[in-house]
Amino acid sequence: MKNNLSNIKKAEKILNMSDCIAIPTETVYGLAGNAYSDRACKKIYKLKKRPKNNPLIIHYLDSQILKKDCIINNDFIKLYKKFCPGPITFVLDLKKNSKISKIATNNKKTLAVRFPKHPITRSLLKRLNFPLAAPSANLSSKVSAVSSDHVKEDFGKKIRFVLEGGKSSIGLESTIIDIRNKPKILRLGGLEISSIQRVLNKKIIINNNPLKIFSPGQFKLHYSPGIPIRLNVKKIKKDEAYILIKKMKISKPNYYFLSQNGNLREAAKNLYSTLRKIKKNNYKSIAVCKIPNKGLGKTINDRLIRASKF
Ligand code: TXA
Ligand code: MG
Repeated sequence: MKNNLSNIKKAEKILNMSDCIAIPTETVYGLAGNAYSDRACKKIYKLKKRPKNNPLIIHYLDSQILKKDCIINNDFIKLYKKFCPGPITFVLDLKKNSKISKIATNNKKTLAVRFPKHPITRSLLKRLNFPLAAPSANLSSKVSAVSSDHVKEDFGKKIRFVLEGGKSSIGLESTIIDIRNKPKILRLGGLEISSIQRVLNKKIIINNNPLKIFSPGQFKLHYSPGIPIRLNVKKIKKDEAYILIKKMKISKPNYYFLSQNGNLREAAKNLYSTLRKIKKNNYKSIAVCKIPNKGLGKTINDRLIRASKF
């Protein structure tokens, strides 16, 4: 705990100088900087090699602070009460007098915002007098990072500091919902749509066809481990790594199990580290078994389809 506090203080110091650090969140690690600072936001794009037209998600401690920057509505309040802090990102209208850097928004009039649950990042946010712009802490279009080691693999010494927070407990990015008018899901994520549906109790449009560009950042090549992936495979080819949803009696060196018994939460948590491990073990291609297309399985399939557009 003492260690955490000194790390948090170090993180605070670097962020106050408009430099970037990596932060842990319950979804994936983020590459964070002061969202009010053009300099910090520019550095995030540069480090990630991210196209400038792909705006950043802004991370807040709570909705009181958010109100300085965004216009909220009833749907926001309902979802906020039920799920925040947690794995949901809201697209809202920006207020005219908001201080959010125009580099972070790419001059858009909307803002994607979220309230991360990880206790270390919440302690950090409490100490800062600005929100944090933070895209996932991986190189653009590659697999997200769910541990501090993954962040270091991608960025090495280019990031001044990685705030240690252990393995991300969800392991998939947040669900993005545009709630300015009719609620519209822009990215499947760590919060299931059925849970959102139960709270809003109205029709939700799902605009997440992975084969279409539907949101500035959602180009189809994404989450790629850098080697080809085949999906719904029953029979693997020679030399392929094989990802299976649950542990089997027979194990082989090229078999990678996402969970013990097929639990989709456990599988989600292990997905990105498994993709990274396979790449590290020098396999040249990956085969994946059929993943049930329900609950978080839908998000897992979404990520695998995008990753397979290598
Ligand atoms: O779980 C998460 O959401 C993680 C953690 C670090 O918070 N962050 C994350 O950020 O996944 P990123 O940058 O990898 O993905 C954010 C997505 C991008 O596809 C971007 O295009 C979209 O959010 N986005 C950002 N601002 C938007 C806006 N105003 N309208 C629509 N989409 C937006
Ligand atoms: Mg990302």
